[in-house]
Amino acid sequence: MSTIDEISGCRILVAGPTGQVARPVVARLAQNNEVFALARFSKSEDEAAIQALGATTIAADLASDDLSGLPTDLDYALNYAVVKTGDFDYDLAANGEGAGRLMMACREVRAFVHFSSTAVYQYAGHQPRVESDPLGDNHRMMFPTYSISKIAAETVVRFVAHQFDIPTTIARLSVPYGDNGGWPFFHLLMMKEGIAIDLHPEHPNYYNLLHERDYIDKVPALCAVASPEVTTLNFGGSEQTSIEQWCEYLTELTGLEPLFKDNPQAFGSLAIDTTRMHELIGPTTVAWREGILGMVRSLAPDLLKPGYR
Ligand SMILES: NC(=O)c1ccc[n+]([C@@H]2O[C@H](COP(=O)([O-])OP(=O)(O)OC[C@H]3O[C@@H](n4cnc5c(N)ncnc54)[C@H](OP(=O)(O)O)[C@@H]3O)[C@@H](O)[C@H]2O)c1
Repeated sequence: MSTIDEISGCRILVAGPTGQVARPVVARLAQNNEVFALARFSKSEDEAAIQALGATTIAADLASDDLSGLPTDLDYALNYAVVKTGDFDYDLAANGEGAGRLMMACREVRAFVHFSSTAVYQYAGHQPRVESDPLGDNHRMMFPTYSISKIAAETVVRFVAHQFDIPTTIARLSVPYGDNGGWPFFHLLMMKEGIAIDLHPEHPNYYNLLHERDYIDKVPALCAVASPEVTTLNFGGSEQTSIEQWCEYLTELTGLEPLFKDNPQAFGSLAIDTTRMHELIGPTTVAWREGILGMVRSLAPDLLKPGYR
């Protein structure tokens, strides 16, 4: 039995269901639960796709819409919603205030899990980041509003949890990926098109790839460790790897070569210290090479060398 089956027969609200990370979670949870999926559904085809997974859709903008009519008697709420328009007013309203408004609207839940990002950490070279480390505007170069609004969101989430006694977890995602895509898949596409991949000059650029099977399987554990004091933990793969290593493996699988370009403004290493994660929710199980091979088999099988198909 997969650990995700520990949650069944529940009423669960998932915000941000159409995204890269949440879509496979919705697909899995909707098999055994009543799932309510909230997004703006800015691409009309997304709403039908989410309904086809068995979820009930709720079209709402977290930045501004009235959320008082959300379903009651919810067991869990999972907030994967995020927006990166580059407009500070809107992105702070949607990511920051929106997280708080969502919590207020479903404050009777047994657990609220807010998905944050390791993009909240200040760059610190190769040192794996601990949850208490300094925060900073890490992703400014590519996404101007992202780190600041993710930090703001965490603060709003803590405030609302404390005010209304809501058992809450903040999970700082490293690099989620899987058969639904993710950063390594973008790198594969860039390799195919001959587009340069920016790297911080302090090589290698370490991260903790987190496969979708693991981030789905850990949902019950993330809910179980929620507390009104708010449990904040890193959430990445137990194995550390690097952009350089996964691109080298993509070359082994496909023959495509990456075009690396040093750029001191690139994000740089964001490896995580996994101590608290292991204590609270245990290690992950998918080895990164296995996950990358599965991702390419699922999304771009034609690019694989014959021996890997
Ligand atoms: N992907 C990564 O590499 C990565 C890395 C670290 C952390 N994370 C975190 O993981 C979570 C999911 O990320 P993702 O990459 O899957 O995001 P994504 O693909 O951009 O999807 C974002 C989701 O949020 C919804 N959304 C956006 N603005 C909204 C609004 N104003 N009101 C309601 N819903 C809204 C979107 O649907 P509509 O546009 O239709 O509303 C979509 O369902 C986020 O918290 C992100 O910070 C992701």
